[in-house]
Amino acid sequence: MKVLIVGGGGREHALAWKCAASPRVAAVLVAPGNAGTAGEAGVRNVNVAAEDVAGLVQLAASELVDLTIIGPEAPLVAGVVDAFAARGLKCFGPSRAAARLEGSKAFAKEFLRRHRIPTANSATFTHASFDPAWLRSQRAPLVVKASGLAAGKGVVIADSIEEAHAAAQAMFAGRFGEAGREVVIEEFLPGEEASFIVMADGTHSLPLASSQDHKRRDDGDRGPNTGGMGAYSPAPVVTPRLHTRIMSEVIEPTIRGLAADGMPYTGFLYAGLMIAPDGTPKVLEFNCRFGDPEAQPILMRLQSDITLLCEAALCGALPSVGAQWDPRAALGVVLAASGYPDRVHKGDAIEGLERAARLPGKIFHAGTRVEAGKVLTNGGRVLCAVGLGASVWEAQRAAYALADTVRWPGVQYRRDIGYRAVQREPLR
Ligand code: AMP
Ligand code: GLY
Repeated sequence: MKVLIVGGGGREHALAWKCAASPRVAAVLVAPGNAGTAGEAGVRNVNVAAEDVAGLVQLAASELVDLTIIGPEAPLVAGVVDAFAARGLKCFGPSRAAARLEGSKAFAKEFLRRHRIPTANSATFTHASFDPAWLRSQRAPLVVKASGLAAGKGVVIADSIEEAHAAAQAMFAGRFGEAGREVVIEEFLPGEEASFIVMADGTHSLPLASSQDHKRRDDGDRGPNTGGMGAYSPAPVVTPRLHTRIMSEVIEPTIRGLAADGMPYTGFLYAGLMIAPDGTPKVLEFNCRFGDPEAQPILMRLQSDITLLCEAALCGALPSVGAQWDPRAALGVVLAASGYPDRVHKGDAIEGLERAARLPGKIFHAGTRVEAGKVLTNGGRVLCAVGLGASVWEAQRAAYALADTVRWPGVQYRRDIGYRAVQREPLR
């Protein structure tokens, strides 16, 4: 079969690599891909942007693609799955209606409330409906969120009512463009964060191996928020008991609720959760896609054929398949360009990739491109070095051995990815 992967980040390199390893797959196309997918055996980049829905439909139809897997949220929220379905093309991801779980935090909050799924108490405003008296009646800290897609940047944790007021006004004034037209203001939830990713087929869900990412740029979970500076799997924060609670209190009611509301959910579903001190999982946000960088360590551990899982999900038959996992831990360290997450420097030559290719583990590319035979940096998150090991600690050592092999001017990466999991492991 022929598979098309849509996107050009580390998650998409990992998806393309995993699909290419399947004995069922003859060819993998990636639109638009990166230098890593360009160099992968059995994989070919196609110069169509991930947001170009009409171009993607055209590509899948003309190349006789059997299965398309969408990486990023933007095409999903724009309705790429509906456009493929209208042409009878198989595309793994949620419909435009279901993707509103990520595309509109206002929609997600209203959905959660209506289906009694635990989440922070909140109110949604537009500039016209904003109620300063309501805000004054709340207790700080408060969390102010632009409702639309803001590339992970549209959330402000406000320590005072005045700060929350200012943050909401800035959003109404256009700080995040259209994404801030509606603003969600919610209570601050204490606890430990966890993420939980499943595949869904409209009715059923298949939990993927547990994982945890590090969203802050600097060691010790400090510094600015990013798309993710590293991730590992399994994540000991998700104990078997918590896993059971998340499935029955969050995932299953979400899949059931969407089906009942006439928008059954097919695709990866990513729940960002806060685990309250009493152990209750509460939803912070939904993503309608696989996580990046969570996908890289998770797919390193997946022993099942991802194309079979996606095809089973597309015909509502997820319970007929299961997922097998490598019992080893996997840990990925993101190597970012200087300036990330603000203004990043691009076009630097990356050294050491050949040496790294001879080491155990795998380097997935994100913001890279090839020019005159050289691999150059081409984005904020540039590479993700993934190691495997008998423990998270061993996977961490393998990942850093890989990361330390590559260089470019200004490369930055955290030295402590996985520290919480390593602390929980028995002493060596
Ligand atoms: P979100 O995009 O909604 O997941 O928010 C980004 C980050 O802000 C989350 O990963 C949390 O660290 C933090 N956050 C969001 N909402 C809350 C909340 N209600 N209470 C505490 N922290 C939050
Ligand atoms: N790593 C977080 C995300 O993919 O949104």
